[in-house]
Amino acid sequence: MKMIRLLLVVWCTFTLFAVVGASGQTMKPVDKCLSCHTDIGSDEATAYMTDIHYKAGVTCADCHGGDPTVEDQDAAMNPKKGYVGVPKPSSIPEMCGKCHGSEKSTFKTAYHLDDVMDEFLASVHGRALSQSSKGPTCISCHGIHNILDINSVKSPVYPTNVTKTCAKCHSDPDYMKKFNPGLPVDQYEKYLTSVHGKLNKAGDPKPATCVSCHSNHLIRSVKDPRSPVYPMNIPRTCAKCHSDKSYMAQYNIPTNQYADYKQSVHGIALLQNSDLSAPACNSCHGNHGAVPPGASSVASVCGTCHQANSDLFDKSVHRAAFAKSNLPGCVVCHSNHLVRQPSDTMIGFGPESVCGKCHKDVPTDSAASSILAIQATLDSLTVGRTDAESLLGHAEQLGMDVSDASYSLKDVNQSLVESRVQVHSFNASLVKSAAEPGLKIVGNAQVSALGEIKEYYFRREGLGVATLIITALAVLLFLKIKQIERRSEK
Ligand code: HEC
Ligand code: HEC
Ligand code: HEC
Ligand code: HEC
Ligand code: HEC
Ligand code: HEC
Ligand code: HEC
Ligand code: HEC
Ligand code: HEC
Ligand code: HEC
Ligand code: HEC
Repeated sequence: MKMIRLLLVVWCTFTLFAVVGASGQTMKPVDKCLSCHTDIGSDEATAYMTDIHYKAGVTCADCHGGDPTVEDQDAAMNPKKGYVGVPKPSSIPEMCGKCHGSEKSTFKTAYHLDDVMDEFLASVHGRALSQSSKGPTCISCHGIHNILDINSVKSPVYPTNVTKTCAKCHSDPDYMKKFNPGLPVDQYEKYLTSVHGKLNKAGDPKPATCVSCHSNHLIRSVKDPRSPVYPMNIPRTCAKCHSDKSYMAQYNIPTNQYADYKQSVHGIALLQNSDLSAPACNSCHGNHGAVPPGASSVASVCGTCHQANSDLFDKSVHRAAFAKSNLPGCVVCHSNHLVRQPSDTMIGFGPESVCGKCHKDVPTDSAASSILAIQATLDSLTVGRTDAESLLGHAEQLGMDVSDASYSLKDVNQSLVESRVQVHSFNASLVKSAAEPGLKIVGNAQVSALGEIKEYYFRREGLGVATLIITALAVLLFLKIKQIERRSEK
């Protein structure tokens, strides 16, 4: 019986060992670094229990080097065994990069995760670190000895925490001054006023954070054409979320901004013609305070670049009229994202007219006569110019010299441009005044073309008569000679 009991105990013990052995972990040799540091109550060891690296089997020695199999402190923490001690800030990226670096890394373990280190070293942050030991390192954003899974809501790089993590430095003027005294330090403060920031503060991880716009490791100077916030890249950066129907589904806002913008005069100018003076999303929405410009501020947003239009609009009847109905100024006639090339057909009551959206061509609408008068003025300029051009062309074909008049028509363009801007006064007589110089040139050109044509016919008629007279004279002369000949023959 005793024998059986003993066998049972032995069997149980073996099974237990077998099970434990199969699970792997506990069979690993005890990590002497961890056990001693736990015994001496070092904070690093306590913290490390929560670290994702601990959970993944990474040891103190994997980062710090040394021999984790020996009890003795000096033998364990021996530089000859690769012990590096506490790394200098400038060598932290390499320490992490042994596992989080590209193929070039010399660390020969199974932990080749990605090329984070290389991206970091190529970033503004990597550059700042190469200049000063106060520069950012991996642990500025991830912490140390309690590094968490990036998807843990407690991780300092989790979307709802990361803005504060960046702000630790970027809202600290004394710190930032050491690196770049000209760099603003108001991003976080402004961010909190934006729709993005407010929702983020309330715990929503989906709205843009610093990282959504600037990236995480390969952060570049905003002036670098490769930066995701360089003007030509911004529309795509915002579109990552704002054009993603399923990502944005819960918010009930449109997702057509990028698609519209791409086809707009602005999008074409910036994205296709690389015209950096054309607005990207942030020109109208701000960089960090990304809010939709409200009705009252739209004209000033557009007015930062189109000042003449904006000044006229501000003095026009529409300003007050639109404000009363909370209509967003310029956007009412031009749209916000799909701003198209304007044309004269926007005026009047035709199918493409914008005036017709609110006004009717009826005597009771006090604007109707002004609208038609504005349309007539612009027509006199454009149709008048076309007429003048064809008359001048006719004269030229007849061989008349009309170069001065043709040249003068160039200046009609200036008047057209000014009249089209002046449309924003929505005042027929002001538009007429702007058109006046052009109308005068068109009138003069028409008069001089007609003059030349008349001259031509006059000259042609003159020549005909002369030929007739000369021919008649020639005939007479001939007859006279014949007569004289005949006489002399007699
Ligand atoms: C027998 C106990 C013991 C063992 C084993 C041990 N340490 Fe330590 N370690 C200490 C003590 C005590 C200190 C703090 C006193 C000091 O600085 O000498 C320390 C300090 C450190 C420091 C900070 C050094 C500094 O310059 O501030 C690091 C890093 C470190 N240990 C890592 C390791 C690693 C990695 C291992 C395993 C390879 C290890 N330790 C093994 C006891 C131990
Ligand atoms: C993922 C890499 C990594 C692991 C794993 C790691 N450390 Fe560290 N440890 C660092 C880095 C980086 C620093 C430097 C931190 C700094 O500059 O503030 C550091 C600093 C230290 C320090 C000095 C702290 C101080 O304030 O001076 C001690 C002690 C230490 N580590 C002990 C340990 C022990 C013990 C373990 C295992 C339980 C461990 N470390 C695991 C990367 C690591
Ligand atoms: C300026 C802050 C910052 C610095 C510096 C930084 N990281 Fe990160 N890191 C992040 C953020 C934010 C994320 C999460 C990104 C996300 O949400 O997509 C991240 C994610 C990661 C991940 C998860 C995999 C991945 O690529 O997303 C690893 C691994 C990582 N970082 C390691 C490092 C290492 C190693 C360094 C130093 C060489 C470093 N990080 C420097 C902010 C930083
Ligand atoms: C010895 C290899 C090794 C070293 C050195 C190392 N790591 Fe890691 N790291 C890992 C492993 C393994 C994981 C776990 C990956 C997993 O579970 O997906 C990890 C995970 C991470 C994660 C979480 C990634 C995620 O997807 O959530 C971060 C952040 C991270 N490491 C940062 C660092 C930093 C910062 C350093 C330097 C202080 C560092 N690592 C050094 C091996 C290493
Ligand atoms: C919605 C996108 C977006 C978010 C979110 C965002 N930024 Fe920016 N950031 C930009 C744009 C766009 C620029 C300006 C680019 C330019 O001037 O051409 C910029 C510029 C910067 C600059 C350069 C200096 C300046 O202010 O012009 C820094 C530094 C910066 N951001 C840091 C941050 C930090 C820190 C956060 C988080 C608190 C953050 N950003 C959040 C888009 C964003
Ligand atoms: C440890 C401090 C620190 C942290 C944390 C930090 N930064 Fe920086 N950041 C800097 C320094 C220093 C510079 C370099 C300034 C320079 O030299 O121009 C910089 C530069 C930048 C720039 C470039 C500005 C420009 O155009 O010149 C951007 C963008 C930026 N950081 C974004 C971020 C974001 C996003 C985060 C958070 C994920 C972050 N930073 C976290 C210190 C920090
Ligand atoms: C990471 C995803 C993401 C990125 C990148 C992003 N946004 Fe957003 N944005 C959101 C979410 C989510 C909302 C919240 C929607 C809501 O309820 O208003 C939002 C809201 C907005 C709003 C307020 C809309 C409203 O009427 O409430 C504006 C304006 C805006 N974003 C502009 C931008 C601009 C400009 C950029 C690029 C510089 C940008 N966003 C980049 C996700 C993003
Ligand atoms: C020329 C200025 C301008 C540009 C460029 C611009 N927006 Fe807007 N955006 C506006 C105005 C104005 C509104 C508000 C519309 C209103 O009140 O009717 C708006 C509204 C929004 C809204 C709120 C939802 C909606 O559609 O009404 C979002 C989101 C938005 N814009 C994102 C973007 C993104 C993303 C880009 C770049 C692809 C962009 N905007 C480019 C002026 C602009
Ligand atoms: C950052 C400066 C900027 C802002 C802000 C801006 N625009 Fe423009 N806009 C331009 C530039 C530059 C062009 C010329 C594009 C081109 O070359 O065709 C332009 C072209 C136009 C045109 C076509 C003009 C023409 O003669 O071809 C209209 C209409 C227009 N913008 C309306 C608006 C409206 C409405 C807003 C506000 C919602 C606005 N813009 C905001 C810079 C801006
Ligand atoms: C009530 C409608 C209406 C409003 C409001 C309006 N516009 Fe216009 N806009 C027009 C019409 C119509 C034209 C076309 C003129 C033409 O080509 O004959 C035009 C043409 C333009 C042009 C091209 C001609 C030029 O000036 O170079 C720009 C730019 C422009 N508008 C900007 C603006 C801005 C900025 C605002 C707000 C301050 C604004 N518009 C408000 C109707 C409007
Ligand atoms: C969004 C609606 C809307 C659009 C579009 C619009 N208007 Fe108006 N307009 C108004 C309102 C409202 C008033 C003020 C009516 C009043 O005071 O009786 C007004 C007044 C006027 C007046 C002054 C009328 C008077 O009593 O002296 C003129 C002129 C005018 N608009 C011209 C135009 C022209 C030209 C266009 C097209 C380029 C246009 N409007 C497009 C809404 C609009």
